[in-house]
Amino acid sequence: MTDTLETPVLEDGGAPEGGAAPKRLFIKTYGCQMNVYDSERMADVLRPLGYAPTDTPEGADFVILNTCHIREKAAEKVYSELGKLRQMKDEKAAAGQGGMTIAVAGCVAQAEGEEIMKRQPAVDLVVGPQAYHQLPELLTRTARARGERIGADFAPNEKFDALPATRGTEGVTAFLTVQEGCDKFCTFCVVPYTRGAEWSRPVAAVLDEARALADRGVREITLLGQNVNAYDGEGPDGKPFTLAKLAYALADIPGIERIRYTTSHPNDMSDDLIAAHGDLDALMPYLHLPVQSGSDRILRLMNRKHGRQKYFDLIDRIREARPDMALSGDFIVGFPGETDRDFEDTMDLVRRVNYASAFSFMYSPRPGTPAATMAVQVPDDVAKTRLHALQALLTEQQVAFNQSLAGRVLPVLFEKKGRHGAQAIGRSPYLQSVHVGDADHLIGRSVPIEIISGQQNSLTGRLIQTN
Ligand code: SAH
Ligand code: SF4
Ligand code: F3S
Repeated sequence: MTDTLETPVLEDGGAPEGGAAPKRLFIKTYGCQMNVYDSERMADVLRPLGYAPTDTPEGADFVILNTCHIREKAAEKVYSELGKLRQMKDEKAAAGQGGMTIAVAGCVAQAEGEEIMKRQPAVDLVVGPQAYHQLPELLTRTARARGERIGADFAPNEKFDALPATRGTEGVTAFLTVQEGCDKFCTFCVVPYTRGAEWSRPVAAVLDEARALADRGVREITLLGQNVNAYDGEGPDGKPFTLAKLAYALADIPGIERIRYTTSHPNDMSDDLIAAHGDLDALMPYLHLPVQSGSDRILRLMNRKHGRQKYFDLIDRIREARPDMALSGDFIVGFPGETDRDFEDTMDLVRRVNYASAFSFMYSPRPGTPAATMAVQVPDDVAKTRLHALQALLTEQQVAFNQSLAGRVLPVLFEKKGRHGAQAIGRSPYLQSVHVGDADHLIGRSVPIEIISGQQNSLTGRLIQTN
């Protein structure tokens, strides 16, 4: 998960009720895929009220910033964005074009709700991640008086029960949140505080949502959770399902061809999930399995509750079950107390595992987390140098992996038109984008494609000629 997903999430709005002119809704999404899912669901909640999505905040009637608190930069972006929105709101009012309701949602809302209201008077309401189903009611109340702040307690079951059954999803791929929250308390991380305790949705609710997505043409589902492989939702017989069991049930739904899941914790990688990777065709051979550091000492300080050897053993078992598994990870450099030696252990781990892709971050001290007050903080310039070295190695591995696929035939699920002519863009089983000419008639389908070349961030392929 990264905070690089900053493109506005555009939803296709349904027709507003009663034929009134649609109210314009702009949602900007920061942070991880869970926020992308939540933004889509907020649009679903607001659609019956006559809100239709728009792709720019100018002139919007309702603007929602769905925020991320994971690193300082992510959180600070919200305040600069709010400054711009305040100006737009004032200009809209001055031009006699009506009001602009501004809401802050997501993890910053949960963590700093009151501060947001104090720092930026243009904000009308603040809504935490477990309260999106209350948006219609909040809007009505806000129309009377500013100053709502909702979502301090965590009750994800109420949210999911209250969200509309139909989703406005367009396209071939979709996210589906099956698990929320985190009980792990890594010493650097805010998620247990912003999202609450681990909680899994019941199997029946997940399957219903997946069936509805399949009916809309979705072929690939990515199951989401902060610790998705800790999934233990209630099954039909009242007993919990593992994520593996859930994957088998999803694979039985007509139309669902591909299943992915993210993010997983090494300690929750159960035997049945590993075995499923060798057995269930629909489960894609790509696994995001963050390790954060290759140093046992740092892993202990991070409270990750496993060492490097356990991670190596796990990777071996996964590759035994699925030899072509593409691995991805997250890394933090400059964690308090990290020495050159510790960092070298991380580089060594990366060399041994050989990642297909990975995200790496400079440690960012977060308020309220134990690591933020640890005695020895690493100077920025040292952390930066380490980050560059790590990123160079990870990029090298990613390029090598992409290039290694040249000459292979891979099933590509086409998602959208490309920029050039009849080009189409799809995804390989290993999650790379694949660009193919003369393929726009294949959008929505999975087709064997010959890979011609691999670049840093994508593959180029061609249709296989059948004579
Ligand atoms: N649940 C996932 C990660 C969620 S946060 C897991 O356990 O792996 C996504 C990533 O952000 C983390 O994997 C970590 O690499 C990074 N991250 C979290 N807190 C951070 C911090 N304080 N500074 C820098 N990076 C951080
Ligand atoms: Fe954060 Fe650790 Fe939980 Fe992941 S497992 S969300 S890094 S506390
Ligand atoms: Fe960010 Fe919250 Fe996701 S802090 S990474 S949006 S869970």
